[in-house]
Amino acid sequence: MNFVDTQDVSGATILMRVDYNVPLKKGRVTDENRIRASLPTLQHLLEQDARVILCSHLDKPKGKKMPEWSLQPVADRLSVILGREVSMAPDCIGDEVEEMVRAMKPGQVLMLENLRFHPGEEENDPEFSRALGSLAEVYINDAFGVCHRAHASVDGVTRHVSRCMGGLLLKKEWEYLARVSNPERPFLLIAGGAKVSSKIGVLDNLLDKVDAMLIGGAMANTFIRALGYPTGTSLVEEDLLDKAREVMDKARKNRVQLYLPVDFIVGDGPYAEASTGVCPFQAIPDDLMALDIGPATCTLFAQVMHQARTVVWNGPMGAFEYRPFSQGSRNIAETMAGLDAVTIVGGGDTDSLVYDLGLQERYSFISTGGGSFIEALEGRPLPGFKALGECSGA
Ligand code: 3PG
Repeated sequence: MNFVDTQDVSGATILMRVDYNVPLKKGRVTDENRIRASLPTLQHLLEQDARVILCSHLDKPKGKKMPEWSLQPVADRLSVILGREVSMAPDCIGDEVEEMVRAMKPGQVLMLENLRFHPGEEENDPEFSRALGSLAEVYINDAFGVCHRAHASVDGVTRHVSRCMGGLLLKKEWEYLARVSNPERPFLLIAGGAKVSSKIGVLDNLLDKVDAMLIGGAMANTFIRALGYPTGTSLVEEDLLDKAREVMDKARKNRVQLYLPVDFIVGDGPYAEASTGVCPFQAIPDDLMALDIGPATCTLFAQVMHQARTVVWNGPMGAFEYRPFSQGSRNIAETMAGLDAVTIVGGGDTDSLVYDLGLQERYSFISTGGGSFIEALEGRPLPGFKALGECSGA
């Protein structure tokens, strides 16, 4: 696969796929991390007097033009951050857009309107892909967050441009995923989040690769129940008890040290104003819910973390959005920030927690991917990487 830092793109007209699927409130961007993540590539291109056409999706308008999902607020925000004008196109393909592209001068930036206003985007429609590709000579994918989607702007378009390459963000994501495939050992996975069902592929794939695994979050409850202990009113996936046992069996066979919480913070529910207290894993009261890992678990998990040389973390340790149940996730985030190891975080909630705590500079890498990061950890080939590899002949 080619990346932009080794290619001559000076003066070229470039279609750059970014992932500007950012949260908006009252027409304003409320989290600009994904915009900032695209800046190194953008600045690199502008220094080379390229004409940069940006394209992205925003939310899921399902092929319909919905003004509330216009990329205009994102263009406005980018323009402030970049300190230069970012023009907004009324659509992402068509005569008017082509006219705007023809009028572009070196060093100018044009933002296309939401790709998902056209059904052809998600359908990977060849005509839509051709129309997009016809706008530029060079295509750059810098949108790791959407590389698990075989959509037109990720896959089809690569067959309609003369040159394709990855951007600098994509290169970083690619390099850190390579470190996960070939880790410095001991290699540790910290898995959290609500559901075993959404992580089973990751656990299964990484049990062949890691030396140790820590399981927290509501998904730990399913494991505790699978071991035969009561779990009160905690969230448990009853239909996955056998799967949880298979995971524990595979860990034993592969000699992976698998750690479950040894105590929990319990409460009436996530909305409770305060927790009811701490209880050991085998004694969750019938009328209470496990909502966070307890202090003994934090100590245990920290000890395991300090032995690792590579740590990947996905998913919070409890209902961290609610203050009384956020301490376990905070402890893990802070311990991880202090490790002398390669530290990689990915997946929606976990990365926002690290940013909220201001710890981002102390991690080796924070992936911009949610679903794409999970699919990569599951060992599934990402359509975005595949398309770039085939297009550039690398
Ligand atoms: C994300 O936010 O994970 C990416 O932008 C992909 O969005 P999607 O799940 O709507 O395809």
